[in-house]
Amino acid sequence: MNKKLRKAVIAGNWKMNKTPVETAELIGNIKPLVKNADCDVVVCVPYVNLQTAIQCTEGTNIKVGAENCHWAESGAFTGEISPQMLTSIGVEYVIIGHSERRQYFGETDETVSMRVNAALKAGLQVILCVGESLEQREKNITFEIVSMQTKIALQNVSEEDLKNVIIAYEPVWAIGTGKTATAKQANEVNSFIRELIADLYNTKAANAFVIQYGGSMNAENAAELLDQEDIDGGLIGGASLKAPDFAKIVEAASR
Ligand code: PGA
Repeated sequence: MNKKLRKAVIAGNWKMNKTPVETAELIGNIKPLVKNADCDVVVCVPYVNLQTAIQCTEGTNIKVGAENCHWAESGAFTGEISPQMLTSIGVEYVIIGHSERRQYFGETDETVSMRVNAALKAGLQVILCVGESLEQREKNITFEIVSMQTKIALQNVSEEDLKNVIIAYEPVWAIGTGKTATAKQANEVNSFIRELIADLYNTKAANAFVIQYGGSMNAENAAELLDQEDIDGGLIGGASLKAPDFAKIVEAASR
């Protein structure tokens, strides 16, 4: 992380965990531990917990995000939630294109791109997830995959709107497996993404652009990962469900 150029963002991705009551409890525990953070702190929670999370974080430095959103404003899309519905209750962030959405729910680069554009139009901050599978890494096509996912997702995003986008590089083989990419492996891909942003936009936009790492980031390995020049924060799954662990990661990003 380069503190002169960028402010780190630590975001929890709670996935399909916690009820509203448990949400209030967990946020209550996180709040005092991260109040002096020198980085942005976000919790992305299941839809039914958003309102509780917003109430519990009022007046604090914790921002609230959703884990997905649809591309339409409203309509016949049973089971979906629109970006406008999210902003109407005070949600500020949204994760888009998480590998679990791509893997289990038929999300494609095209639908990711539509969701990214709709979320930006509604005024949300987007955390766009990209990353290769183990098979793709072994075939040596990591850069091609990450490049394609990034280019398609950002195809209609202006330089102005890019200011509201963060990319989370999450190698699929490292998610929830306890298998973290080494700091060198993670930084290599994050640097590649930054160069790609410079090519697609310009160096100024690339230097200001926040690129997180995600995939088994935890209280123990966070400092080493965040020490890398191009790792500007983390998208944290498992470890974000434990207040002390999440707080330690926030602390590492604040140093
Ligand atoms: P993990 O998940 O930290 O549990 O590996 C990260 C993510 O999926 O965003």
